Amino acid sequence: MQEVRVITPATVANVVCGFDCLGFALSDPFDEMLVRRTAEPGIRITHNDEFNLTTDPRQNMAGVVAAAMLERADVDFGVEIEITKHIMPGSGIGSSSASAVGTAVGMNRLLDDRFSQLELVDLALEGETLASGSRHADNVAPGVYGGFTLVRSVDPVDIVGLEHPPLWATIIHPQVEVKTAEARSILPAQVPLKTAIRQWSNVGSLVAGLAAGDYGLISRSMEDLIVEPVRRPLIPHLDEIRSASVAAGSLGGGISGSGPSMFMLSETEVTARSVEKAMHSVYRQTGIKYKTYVSAVCRDGARVLDAA
Ligand code: HSE
Repeated sequence: MQEVRVITPATVANVVCGFDCLGFALSDPFDEMLVRRTAEPGIRITHNDEFNLTTDPRQNMAGVVAAAMLERADVDFGVEIEITKHIMPGSGIGSSSASAVGTAVGMNRLLDDRFSQLELVDLALEGETLASGSRHADNVAPGVYGGFTLVRSVDPVDIVGLEHPPLWATIIHPQVEVKTAEARSILPAQVPLKTAIRQWSNVGSLVAGLAAGDYGLISRSMEDLIVEPVRRPLIPHLDEIRSASVAAGSLGGGISGSGPSMFMLSETEVTARSVEKAMHSVYRQTGIKYKTYVSAVCRDGARVLDAA
């Protein structure tokens, strides 16, 4: 195997109540990556996009993951990684973890699939940790497994793939900057027990609602008493977006990862598109530049398109 082409999905982390543990994969947008084996050792990175991300392999998530994999596999070849990013960096839909996951999946094929999905999450986490300054796998896990995932633990890595009914996500990305490290630095260090009880009850019932295909329970469970109250001021018009989306038929939603994107879930594509219109009607008046996406929750994680 000399060259592998991979597509790797955007992901939504937290899913309102599941801070750092729940996430799901989207069909759109996605990044494209080409991972090529080279005879001379070393890692070279190129970007075919307009985002001016670093190509220094020690600073770029893809480089960090590739280096970890070459070392763990104990091989002496090098790699070239070409990244075509469609997931905007800093959008809150897993742009950095997509680079990490795509590299892990592409490199794994070059290495004859020697690493399991669980090991790929662990390897991709090395890149994600560089990007956000903390070790959390709620974007990386759905990027590798697809669908909805629950991160039971990152040390050791333990991932649960969740059953779920058909679901559609509508995403709005306001073009304002929210740095993950900053959005984490404002979080409370401690939580009252009463609040924690309500939060973990919601996580449990969201997982149960997904497994049973109970859209009502999914809807009721998307409530966050811990993270959203402190991050709300960073996300322009979150409450208006949610009210307008629910009025258009959405099951509910909230901040995607650490923001600034917001996501709303719906049972069908038709509703998800009505939700998109409702989002436009809120944001058109704000003067803030934004982008929207409508996407099925994708059952696939990053996948090899072709390998030669
Ligand atoms: N769970 C993370 C957070 C996702 O909300 O900070 C962003 O990386």
